[in-house]
Amino acid sequence: MKIADRMVSIKPFEVMAILARARQLEAAGLDIIHMEIGEPDFPPPPLMIEAAHQQLKNNPLRYTAAAGLEPLREALSADYQRRYGLRLDPRRIFLTPGASGALMLALGVLVNPSDHVLIADPGYPCYPNFIRLFEGIPRRIPVGPDSGFNLSAAGVRDAFDERTRGIILASPSNPTGTVLSAGALHALVSEVMAHQGFLVSDEIYHGLEYGVPSDSALTVSDEVFVINSFSKFYGMTGWRLGWMVVPDAFVDAVEKLAQNLFIAAPTLPQLVAVHAFDPRNLLELEARRQVLLERRNVLRDGLLELGFQLPANPEGAFYIYADVSKWGPDSGWLAHHLLEEAGVAVTPGRDFGDHDPERYLRFCYTAPVPRIQEGLERIAHFLKVWDPKR
Ligand SMILES: Cc1ncc(COP(=O)(O)O)c(C=O)c1O
Repeated sequence: MKIADRMVSIKPFEVMAILARARQLEAAGLDIIHMEIGEPDFPPPPLMIEAAHQQLKNNPLRYTAAAGLEPLREALSADYQRRYGLRLDPRRIFLTPGASGALMLALGVLVNPSDHVLIADPGYPCYPNFIRLFEGIPRRIPVGPDSGFNLSAAGVRDAFDERTRGIILASPSNPTGTVLSAGALHALVSEVMAHQGFLVSDEIYHGLEYGVPSDSALTVSDEVFVINSFSKFYGMTGWRLGWMVVPDAFVDAVEKLAQNLFIAAPTLPQLVAVHAFDPRNLLELEARRQVLLERRNVLRDGLLELGFQLPANPEGAFYIYADVSKWGPDSGWLAHHLLEEAGVAVTPGRDFGDHDPERYLRFCYTAPVPRIQEGLERIAHFLKVWDPKR
């Protein structure tokens, strides 16, 4: 038996190794402050738990249709109207096992072997691996503070060639927490459309903005793929439920692939998610966004005070991408010592691409304010004695 050749190009998540080491240190009795993992510490919203209990008592939880439960597709369509003023035919909306399942479906219907797909570097580590799974070729476009660490219309214009089929875009961005302006989004979508390329817009951090709320790529064109999920804004990571909006002409192809890959998204979370748009739940989520905003402010101000540089404003998601070059040539080395000696877990830039990764660390504000403050104190103490040459 032999592992398939393609697995050579599928890379593991660095952050998982950091998390595993942090857990090992905790098992040995050490106190670790977790700022490495992109998952808030909030419990699932109470209304969701209540709905799950009800459904477990009364519902046999059979498979749903491959595209998902009709009432949920309709509720999502109504939510696009409420959030973005868009009218979406529910038949274009597919429920999926997380945004990850949506990415798989999107790239499955879009990517042929050897097709090039443009992605931002730094960016979400799984994108290149999904592209490679379908034997496409990820082309990382170096992005920096000048474009808010995101793909830009000009960057796409320069990079698009005869082998390029499309782009994956994420705003708010993981790992930088930066948000594309409505104008930049409009220009970018129009640029990709002008090349007749595909655009997959990963909108999983929508709702978690601390300045201007994001526009959906769907406000620019109906001919885009939008993926999203109940994991982040709705606080339901482990429920594994996401969705995707597809162009009308792709409905049949996506349905065929969804039937074969997943049969359907998980039934219990779908039944529960119908209640996600209940005003009481939306109030709870707004309160959580306010908590995240306070954490963002504490972490951002604390890092700046310690001398970290934040080259772009972290305005969304729950990430801060900090320039740590002042403390040595390699953020991986710094992350290692911060964990081992200060008990603070953060993720080095190399998890997110090849463009200047050693300059940066990603901090997640997914811990309560007192823990973030304690983390900042530990980092301050550590940096006083840190010698990058050792
Ligand atoms: C940018 C981005 N897209 C997609 C995902 C996958 O999310 P899900 O839990 O919905 O599969 C993540 C998870 O961290 C993410 O950060």
